[in-house]
Amino acid sequence: MSVIVWWLVTVVLVAVHSASARVVELEWEVEYKFWWPDCKEGIVMAINGQFPGPTIDAVAGDIVIIHLTNKLSTEGVVIHWHGIRQRGTPWADGAAGVTQCPINPGETFTYNFTVDKPGTHFYHGHYGMQRSAGLYGMMIVRSPKEKLRYDGEFNLLLSDWWHQSTHSQELALSSSPMRWIGEPQSLLINGRGQFNCSQAAYLSNEGKRQCTFRKNDQCAPETLRVKPNKVYRLRIASTTALASLNLGVEGHKLEVVEADGNYVKPFTVDDIDIYSGETYSVLLRTHSFPTKKHFISVGVRGRKPNTTQALTVLSYVDAPESSRPTLPPPVTPRWDDYNRSISFSNKFFAAKGYPPPPKKSDEQLYLLNTQNLIDGHTKWAINNVSLSVTATPYIGAIRYGLNSLSYLKSPAKGLVESYDITKPPVNPTTVKSSGIYKFPMGIVVDVILQNANVLKGKISEIHPWHLHGHDFWVLGYGDGKFRPGVDEKKYNLKNPPLRNTVALYPFGWTALRYVTDNPGVWFFHCHIEPHLHMGMGVVFAEGVDRIAKMDIPDEVLGCGLTRKWLMNRGRH
Ligand code: C2O
Ligand code: CU
Repeated sequence: MSVIVWWLVTVVLVAVHSASARVVELEWEVEYKFWWPDCKEGIVMAINGQFPGPTIDAVAGDIVIIHLTNKLSTEGVVIHWHGIRQRGTPWADGAAGVTQCPINPGETFTYNFTVDKPGTHFYHGHYGMQRSAGLYGMMIVRSPKEKLRYDGEFNLLLSDWWHQSTHSQELALSSSPMRWIGEPQSLLINGRGQFNCSQAAYLSNEGKRQCTFRKNDQCAPETLRVKPNKVYRLRIASTTALASLNLGVEGHKLEVVEADGNYVKPFTVDDIDIYSGETYSVLLRTHSFPTKKHFISVGVRGRKPNTTQALTVLSYVDAPESSRPTLPPPVTPRWDDYNRSISFSNKFFAAKGYPPPPKKSDEQLYLLNTQNLIDGHTKWAINNVSLSVTATPYIGAIRYGLNSLSYLKSPAKGLVESYDITKPPVNPTTVKSSGIYKFPMGIVVDVILQNANVLKGKISEIHPWHLHGHDFWVLGYGDGKFRPGVDEKKYNLKNPPLRNTVALYPFGWTALRYVTDNPGVWFFHCHIEPHLHMGMGVVFAEGVDRIAKMDIPDEVLGCGLTRKWLMNRGRH
């Protein structure tokens, strides 16, 4: 967004808020549309004809009401508000099969929830692989008394893009043998990227083609226009389906101040790593030359890249329209330098003013992440259960005690003690189930994510895990297999950062802690879309007795067994 537009938006917001209107009400229609995200025609899921979807701009404490109409002809749709905790409204979380039924074609569903705390968030489809299809947008919740000082701001929503349709990707992933979707064709910044060309080609000898844009091209990058000697807040979110990313701005340092909607102790770096599901705010100080242009680059890390960097330009106000950056874009750090990635993760501490986590936990849940097989189909499994979301939303099954769903039995909680995480699984067969874990209210839970070797070869992948309904403290990361009674001693209990997404590194473990203070049913899963599709997730049912008494709107339960149940009660 240009500074001028941003200024206008601010004026309007201030006007709205001084009139103390506290409701942000929107009408959205989702439909497929032809688009040119990377200068090549494809099909995107657009909201009100836009891709990415419109930015939601609210102030902490606002009520957000979205009337979402499904204009797709043959498939359901839902939208998840990633980073919003949905306190008191777990049915508005927008996770298909977990908190609601998909909205049928032609139907309208109203999401109604409070954005209780400031932060940089986004929203996205959460049914099948609709996020990969482009159903996403930014969601900014402003603080009425912002502590950070800056002169302007920009949103950077990062994503990855394939030329193969998501329907065919879903089919490929569930085929036997599985066909992997491969690396993305392009990376997008605010929905804009360039396939098979580089804007910076004139500066390099990589032999890449120089991109050409016509005015109004849907793939032409948005330029960030800045004034000298000012501070800008870049709000960055990654909604990639697969790629782990790194972002850098040539000639400028980045001061990291916010992560996943929580302030962090500020630290300054040359570039940031960002995994799918994470958001950051960084402050960028402009220098004093008013006529320069600089590349902002986004590249792939964590997997062997086969995708050109996404580029856009930071342009100082007096730079001539036709001038180009004189220095090449920052080089993305080596993809497999995991020590660099881990040391970036270890720079995060909570900002002053956040209370420390409780000293002890009441329950420890070990989640072993493995790649497995079901009848020759490749799957991901957690504690040997590959998640398959039920046709009846969990929240409804629990609300109405439909326990004929034997499916809702929890898998074993203990770490598979004899499991050798450095080798391919000895017994690779897994089972499909609901992956549900139940917790009482008011307890402290530690989750220890344990990574392991994949089915074939000697590798282990990065998995960014995202929890709905909560922020959690990241207590620490470690190498190898978690040693109960030993590794806890390394936890940061003084000032760990609060987040809603955290990376699990190859052959390592990640420990997090949260308090069960939000009754509801919360998805906890790897944010890599094909991994979730292949079963990499679990579901936390929090306060089962409270859910059983909840006043859940019937509209979210019009499918599966809950539909029959409500019909028998004459409620549908
Ligand atoms: Cu952004 Cu369940 O995810
Ligand atoms: Cu994963």
